[in-house]
Amino acid sequence: MFNSLPRDVAARMHELEAVDAEDREDGTPRANRLRQVPPDTGRFLALLAAMAPAGRWVEIGTSGGYSALWLSLPARERGHRLTTFEVLPEKFMLARETFRLASAEDVIDPVQGDARELLEPTPDIAFCFLDAEKEVYSDCYELVVPLLVPGGVLVADNAISHQADLQPVIDRALADERVDAMVVPIGKGELLCRRR
Ligand SMILES: C[S@@+](CC[C@H](N)C(=O)[O-])C[C@H]1O[C@@H](n2cnc3c(N)ncnc32)[C@H](O)[C@@H]1O
Repeated sequence: MFNSLPRDVAARMHELEAVDAEDREDGTPRANRLRQVPPDTGRFLALLAAMAPAGRWVEIGTSGGYSALWLSLPARERGHRLTTFEVLPEKFMLARETFRLASAEDVIDPVQGDARELLEPTPDIAFCFLDAEKEVYSDCYELVVPLLVPGGVLVADNAISHQADLQPVIDRALADERVDAMVVPIGKGELLCRRR
């Protein structure tokens, strides 16, 4: 996957990486910052999705579509589709542009709205990446875990960078009999849960 990145995907990834780097250097708080994962986290997500059991792939928090592009690599390889939810209309439009420019519209289905209202409640999720506002993590965790297939994976970003905010959901996962869970020190820290 990683040594044969499609040219359109690589080009759009580089554009988004440049915008994200500018956002972070600038330091001025802006509502529409991309706040995307670093490349290593993207590779980690792609590998996890590539190893997931059969079932639906979901992302909560699309932003400009950067992490979804990483997930498009195993999706294409395995003949899967990713459904990614974004609540902000302007970010949703940006992500649609990303998927068009990267020729990834055939493997990614962007959905505009709050994932908590729109996620289909069928128990067939094999892989979920949760990367939204920290206030919705607990709701999303309680929504997604019952929908995971056995062996299905939930990965939640910012488990180290926003540890204080996310401690309740981290504690919940570590003590939750339904999953095996740990925090992986990669990127901003990934809470990794596998449904038993
Ligand atoms: C950290 S950014 C996502 C970055 C993206 N995963 C990436 O790495 O390229 C978080 C995004 O989640 C969106 N969001 C927050 N709450 C949401 C919800 N309940 N449903 C869908 N999207 C949500 C925000 O608007 C924001 O664009």
